[in-house]
Amino acid sequence: MSKTILITGGAGFIGSHVVRLFSNKYPDYKIVNLDKLTYAGNLENLRDIENHANYIFEKGDIVDERYIKDLFSKYNFDGVVHLAAESHVDRSITNPMEFIMTNVVGTVNLLNAAKDAWKGNEDGKLFYHVSTDEVYGSLGDTGLFLETTSYDPQSPYSSSKASSDHFVRAYGNTYGMPFVISNCSNNYGPNQFPEKLLPLFINNIRNGKALPVYGDGKFTRDWLYVVDHAIAIDKIYHEGRNGETYNIGGFNEWTNIDLIKVLCKQMDIALGNAAGTAENLISYVKDRPGHDKRYAIDANKLKNELGWEPSLQFEEGLVKTIAWYLGNKEWMDNITSGDYQNYYKQQYS
Ligand code: NAD
Ligand code: TYD
Repeated sequence: MSKTILITGGAGFIGSHVVRLFSNKYPDYKIVNLDKLTYAGNLENLRDIENHANYIFEKGDIVDERYIKDLFSKYNFDGVVHLAAESHVDRSITNPMEFIMTNVVGTVNLLNAAKDAWKGNEDGKLFYHVSTDEVYGSLGDTGLFLETTSYDPQSPYSSSKASSDHFVRAYGNTYGMPFVISNCSNNYGPNQFPEKLLPLFINNIRNGKALPVYGDGKFTRDWLYVVDHAIAIDKIYHEGRNGETYNIGGFNEWTNIDLIKVLCKQMDIALGNAAGTAENLISYVKDRPGHDKRYAIDANKLKNELGWEPSLQFEEGLVKTIAWYLGNKEWMDNITSGDYQNYYKQQYS
């Protein structure tokens, strides 16, 4: 059945994989990608599908209430997959207001536009809010985040995402807005902006630059290949139950330092360097303020209800990821010139 779907943040890392999957898999859908093209948005990420007949790009800001309302009138959306966000914890520490505007106010603008457009005609409509496991806070050495775990966000980024999740549920409860929310662990793969751990370290190793490991490096994250996240989003969008939350994770926990050592080993192989070359670049630096110790996801609800599982083993995903970055040096060089240099200096010097 034909649908018109708004995907926000589709020029970013995860959004571009979601747009690609939906555009390729559903030729009968109209996919509208709304993106402000901030430093993190890059239309290069979508070159392969930009001429598809079912794909439309709209440049705009979800914080702009009038613009969002007009967009809903223009397209008569059946559904929204909302990924647009400020997404980097370190930037949220330097500039929390930007996160409140985009992640909270922007989400509420979208909810209001969807509520007004769908009023009395909610059947078959869906607001899918893409969120993060960071809303649950930080775990000790044991335990896993469940969908029922209480929210306990610890950074300005996770607080803004938690707030947006609450608004989505409140619109479901108060106005009968049909919605689903998913909370996913750390993603990795092609097209990730090199402010996040893996692409930043891949780029630094390629350039023989120091690898800034925060604190003692013994922080734990669960890692999922980005295409598997996109596949989970597709499944939840089409088969998830109204009003439910689904945790998405890779069943794949690593301490940062162990992960970095595996990355270094694979980079030496990929670059043809002597073993140990990349590891010599490791440099322990001042910790991130309020650094969450451990995130770990129990994704069994999604597995049992909808039959989703990660398709890639981590080592396989990592090798693929490295190959992509080394094969797309121009993509990396384009986004690491200009403003990125100022960001890097401010963050790491
Ligand atoms: P990203 O930073 O790579 O991309 C965000 C996109 O949103 C960019 O294209 C940017 O231009 C756009 N955007 C930002 N502000 C906007 C605004 N005001 N109006 C319109 N567009 C705007 O982020 P990502 O890593 O792809 O994350 C996407 C979503 O997934 C976010 O909601 C994030 O919280 C969530 N998430 C990310 C991860 C992860 O590991 N990266 C894990 C779980 C959940
Ligand atoms: P990041 O990719 O920023 O994701 P998040 O903070 O949302 O989990 O960071 C992943 C982990 O890597 C996190 O524990 C912080 C750490 N890290 C470093 O040690 N050095 C760095 O330069 C960066 C960007 C992150």
